[in-house]
Amino acid sequence: MTYHDYKRKNGTQTSAFGAPGRINHDSSKFYNSKLYEGLNNGKDVEYVENPIEPQNINKVFCKSSEAMTELPNNSVHLMVTSPPYNVGKMYDENLSLKEYRELLKRVFKETYRVLVPGGRACINIANLGRKPYLPLHSYIIEDMHALGFLMRGELLWDKGSSASPSTAWGTYLKANNPVLRDVHEYILVFCKDTFTRLNPRKRKSTISKEEFLEFTKSVWKFSAERASKVGHPAPFPVELPYRLIQLYTFEDDVVLDPFVGSGTACIAALKTKRNYVAYDIDKNYCDLAEQRIKQFLTEKQQIEKTTAEKFIELYNKKFDTLFVVKKISDNPDVICEDLTGGELNLEITLTEDRPRDIKALLGRSEHKSLEYAKKYGLGPASSLSGNVSEQAYNRIGEKMVKNYGTNVALVVWDASPLDWNWDTETKNLAKKLLLKYSQNPFDKGVWILSAFQNKIFRVL
Ligand SMILES: C[S@@+](CC[C@H](N)C(=O)[O-])C[C@H]1O[C@@H](n2cnc3c(N)ncnc32)[C@H](O)[C@@H]1O
Repeated sequence: MTYHDYKRKNGTQTSAFGAPGRINHDSSKFYNSKLYEGLNNGKDVEYVENPIEPQNINKVFCKSSEAMTELPNNSVHLMVTSPPYNVGKMYDENLSLKEYRELLKRVFKETYRVLVPGGRACINIANLGRKPYLPLHSYIIEDMHALGFLMRGELLWDKGSSASPSTAWGTYLKANNPVLRDVHEYILVFCKDTFTRLNPRKRKSTISKEEFLEFTKSVWKFSAERASKVGHPAPFPVELPYRLIQLYTFEDDVVLDPFVGSGTACIAALKTKRNYVAYDIDKNYCDLAEQRIKQFLTEKQQIEKTTAEKFIELYNKKFDTLFVVKKISDNPDVICEDLTGGELNLEITLTEDRPRDIKALLGRSEHKSLEYAKKYGLGPASSLSGNVSEQAYNRIGEKMVKNYGTNVALVVWDASPLDWNWDTETKNLAKKLLLKYSQNPFDKGVWILSAFQNKIFRVL
C-alpha cells in the first residue's frame, strides 16, 4: 500500500472560517487550492524497510554522522537530535554560518537516506544572538526543504523557569533597546516522502490516551536538563526524545540520534522498548553515553530484582509457597521458581504519585515515585517508567501470554511513603477502570506492592 492508497474516511470539509477540533476532516479542497500549488506534498512510494546488521544495532558510533555507513537505506524510523550549536561549546568548531549549515545538511542528507518512507526527523534547536538575532530554526527549515523533507510542524518547547534567561534584557524599563529573552526552543518535525508511516509488521503503538492528547499540542512545557548533572554542556532532558518516540514510533522501531552527546535519546529509546543507533564525534561523549546507558540498564535490573524479592517474600507468606527469584530478564522482567519447578513470572512497574489520582495505578510513573524509591530505599531508581494501563493490558499482557503462557503477575511497586488505602476506594476504582480494557491477561493477578505498608494487595 502507498500513501495515496491510504483512504480517508468520509468527514467534514474545510469551512471558509476554518474548523478547529475536527477528527476525520476532508480537507482536499484546501490542499487543492492555489496556496499549495507547486509545493512538494509527498510521493507515491512503496514502504521499504531494510534491517540493520545485528552488530550495529543499539550502538553508539564514535565518528562523524556525515557518513553513517553502518546504516542501510530505509532502516531507521525516527531521528531525534539536537545539533551542535557552533557557539564555542567544547565540541563546537568555529564555523561560519554557511559552513555550519553545510555540516548539518550533510548529516540530514544521510538521515534522509537511512529513514524509511514516512520516517520522521525531529530537530531540537534554539536560536542565537540578538544583534542581529540568528533564526537557526528558519535556516534549518529551508535546508530540510531543499533536501526533500516534508515539514509536519513545529513544537515550541517552553522551558519555563528552568530556562533562566538571566537579566540580559537590554535597557531595563526603557524603550531604547529592550531585548527579548528566549525561554523556548524549537523542535522541528519533518518526514520523508509520505506523511503516513505504514506499519506492515504490525508493531504496537505504546502511547497512552493522556499522552496523545498532550503530545499532539504544539507547545510543550517541561524543564531543561542540568548540564552539570549529566556531564555534557548541552543535554536535552529524557522527556524530549521520550515524547517524540511515543508519538512517532512503534515498539521495536529504530531511533537515530546523529549528535548523541550524553546518550539521552538512547535512554529514551530503551525506556520505551525501541532500538537506537547513535553517533558522536567526541570520544569523551561517546564514553559518557555508553556509561549512562549501562547505568540505566543496571538500575533497571536492580530495581526489578529488589522489587521482585520483596514481592515474593510477601507472596510466599500469604500463600504459604516457596518461590525464589531465579532470573532477572527482560520479557518478563523476573522469573521465579519454587522447589517443585513451579514458575511464576513477574512484570514489574512503578506507580505515580498516588494521592493525586487514579493515575497512580493506571498512568505513567513519574519522577515523584522515583524520588521516593531512592529516598525510601527499595534500591536505586532513576529509570523505570512503566505504563500500568491499557498499554499494560494490550501490549505487555498480550506479549506475556504469547511468550510465557498465562502464568504472569503484574507487580505495581508503590514506592511512595504515604499510607494509602489500596483495599477500598483505589481498588474499586481500579477495578472499574481496568475492566474496561480487554480481558485481564495477568492470570496471577495485578498486585500492588506497598513499600510503606510492607504489604501486597491484589487489585485485579
Ligand atoms: C547539542 S549536543 C547533543 C546533546 C544531546 N542531545 C544530549 O542529550 O546529551 C551536540 C553533539 O554533537 C556532537 N557533534 C558535533 N559534530 C558532530 C559530527 N559531525 N558528527 C557527530 N557528532 C557531532 C558534539 O560532540 C555534541 O556532543
